[in-house]
This record gives sequence, C-alpha cells and structure tokens, in this order.
Amino acid sequence: MRIIRAKDYADASRKTANIISAQVLLKPDCVLGLATGSSPIGTYQQLIRWYEKGDLDFSQVRTVNLDEYVGLGADNEQSYIHFMRENFFDHINIDPRNTHLPNGLEPDARHQCAHYDSVIHSLGGVDLQLLGIGHNGHIGFNEPAEEFVKGTHCVELTQNTIDANARFFENEDQVPRKAYTMGILDILQAKRVVMIVTGEGKAQILKDAFWGPVTPKVPASILQLHPDFTLVADEAALSVAKDLL
Ligand code: F6R
Repeated sequence: MRIIRAKDYADASRKTANIISAQVLLKPDCVLGLATGSSPIGTYQQLIRWYEKGDLDFSQVRTVNLDEYVGLGADNEQSYIHFMRENFFDHINIDPRNTHLPNGLEPDARHQCAHYDSVIHSLGGVDLQLLGIGHNGHIGFNEPAEEFVKGTHCVELTQNTIDANARFFENEDQVPRKAYTMGILDILQAKRVVMIVTGEGKAQILKDAFWGPVTPKVPASILQLHPDFTLVADEAALSVAKDLL
C-alpha cells in the first residue's frame, strides 16, 4: 500500500487526477473503474480542465462504474448514471457507448449481476479502479458483512449508508434500499486501485480499514492485500492514523 499525503480536498483531487491522467496517457484505450459520491467530484473536475486544455484525450477510454441504485434510471437525478454524465462524461470526449454502469431499471437481479460481470470481463478487466470509502468502510456498495461477496450482486443498503446518502435526496424515504454493486473480487482484480479519502469524518474508518485487521466487517480492509493500492488522503482524514504513518 502506497500513501500519498495531501493538504486538503483540492490537493487530494489534483493528485488523484494526476494518477488517472498518467494511466490515460500511457494506455489511451484503458479501462477505468469509476466511482460516484462527493469524494471523486474534484478529481473529475480536474480531469475535465486538462481535457479542455487539450492535455487529455478520452476518445478511446472505456469505463465501468462500481454501482447503481436499484429502481433508478438515467432520468432520475439521483441515479449514478445521471451523476456520471453530469459530473464527467458530458464534459469530455468519451464515447457514451464505452461507458458502463449496472442498469438500475433491470428488475432481474441475477441476470443484471451476471451481465455486468460479463461486461467487465469482455473489456479485459479494469486497469485502474477509483474508489471512495463509506463511513462504515464500504467500497462500492459492499457493506460490512460476515463474508466478502466476490462478483456483482444486489445489496440491501445499511441504515448507515441510507443516512449518509440521504443528503442527496429530498428526504430519507426517497433513498433506494437496494443497489447493484461490483463485488470485492471485481475490485481486487483491477490492476491498480486508487482511493481518495478526505475530511475528519473519515479519519477513524480510514485507520480501521488500513491499520486494522482484514475483515469483511470493514470491507475496504481487503485492499491491504492488493499488490498495487494507492491511498490519496488529506491531513484531516489521516489525523487518527497519523502516529502510525
Ligand atoms: C460510490 C461508491 C461509494 C462511495 C462512498 C463514499 O460509487 O461506490 O462507495 O465511494 O460511499 O462516498 P462519498 O465520497 O460521498 O463520501
């Protein structure tokens, strides 16, 4: 595990964008695994700025996103497909046919999960997976559990995640209770994994995940075993672990 220390959110976003930018330059048709949430927004904004300056070309890049709410489609502003278009895809020269997310409107969970894993496989796997971390240690929507789930699956969101995500909805009742998410093996099979974590609110879970035992009760802890894992974290997020660095 490699740790890149950043001053604050803006600095962490630039550093994360630098890593993704290098990936795109080195392999123009790379497969990027992408995340939603507040953590990667600054990274996407930086990548958009470099694209606008002519420094980056996404025309051959392929993407797979980690997750999507069950029941939400592109016309719903809270869907992750909508988020990705609004925050990234609509501002760069990526071919929409090269972008992939689980289909939240597909009611047949088994079919959708098997299909999504076959999409990842057909792309040749993920070259670089971008992650955030939930307050409960989730990655994608792999919630704390008794065991790790390998492939794409349908999850019941925990109350902790529903509470955390309620800020994006009018009220908590509107937060979907289920989501499709890539599994832990899908994430571990990415050739390189980069996680961006900022803010004091994530400091304790960051310490638990990367300076504690590897356990499905803290799903992100499995990344301790990944051969090419980079954590980009700001000072606030590292404040609880700082004596262990
Ligand atoms: C989003 C995702 C989630 C988030 C996590 C952190 O696609 O997979 O695991 O990365 O919930 O969310 P933020 O960044 O909003 O704190």
